[in-house]
Amino acid sequence: MSLPIRGDFRLRKADFADLPAVYRVCLQTGDAGKDATAREDDPDALGHMFIGPYLVLEPDFAFVLEGPRGVAGYVMGALNTPDFYLRMERDWLSEVRKRIPDPGPDESRWRGSDWIRHRIHNPPYLYPPALHAFPSHGHIDFLPEARGVGWGRRGFQHLMNALAEAGSPGMHLDVSPQNDPAIAFYEKLGFAPVLSDDMPAGSLTMARRF
Ligand SMILES: CC(C)(COP(=O)(O)OP(=O)(O)OC[C@H]1O[C@@H](n2cnc3c(N)ncnc32)[C@H](O)[C@@H]1OP(=O)(O)O)[C@@H](O)C(=O)NCCC(=O)NCCS
Repeated sequence: MSLPIRGDFRLRKADFADLPAVYRVCLQTGDAGKDATAREDDPDALGHMFIGPYLVLEPDFAFVLEGPRGVAGYVMGALNTPDFYLRMERDWLSEVRKRIPDPGPDESRWRGSDWIRHRIHNPPYLYPPALHAFPSHGHIDFLPEARGVGWGRRGFQHLMNALAEAGSPGMHLDVSPQNDPAIAFYEKLGFAPVLSDDMPAGSLTMARRF
């Protein structure tokens, strides 16, 4: 499967040397698609949860978008969600937790990155029966300089092709209900909300078959 190149940008497989850059992109897109730098007091905590485990544990489905100023985005996924969550718990979060204390469940006391610190210790690991027809899942985040010129579609299509070639029948993703641009983007790519009593209130999961 050839990787797209256009203009000054190209999509390529991610490697471990990309970890600092993808953590940075994760932070700069971590507030429902907007820059979360001012909100977080730990610049790495979001990356520990949402991007590090994908690059390290699912390298066949981890891609970065490289532009003239370096990594400008990523698209990453997990082929088999329940298997990935088992490995994320055993091989990733168990180590991360040794360095990051749990601030506890009282949200009124949370400051800065406490919400994500708590989540690192209490991951939701959402995979109810309503998602079983869509066993893969994924993430995409681009910096503003890379948006609006078709790279999102090309990148996500590349990920979907890789997952489908590996045998997956479909994928799901979580998106903030406040992130209207991303919801519009996913709808354009054929994703629809998963409407089921299985899904937690206040979150939005979208899915599509391949
Ligand atoms: C969401 C995101 C990945 C989209 O990537 P992109 O490169 O800007 O999107 P593209 O240019 O490839 O657009 C693909 C399609 O989605 C549509 N689309 C993209 N952004 C849109 C928006 N804000 N409103 C409506 N439609 C939109 C485009 O019109 C296009 O449709 P077409 O292919 O039928 O012409 C990118 O904007 C981004 O990284 N945003 C910030 C991080 C984020 O929110 N990530 C998702 C977290 S769940």
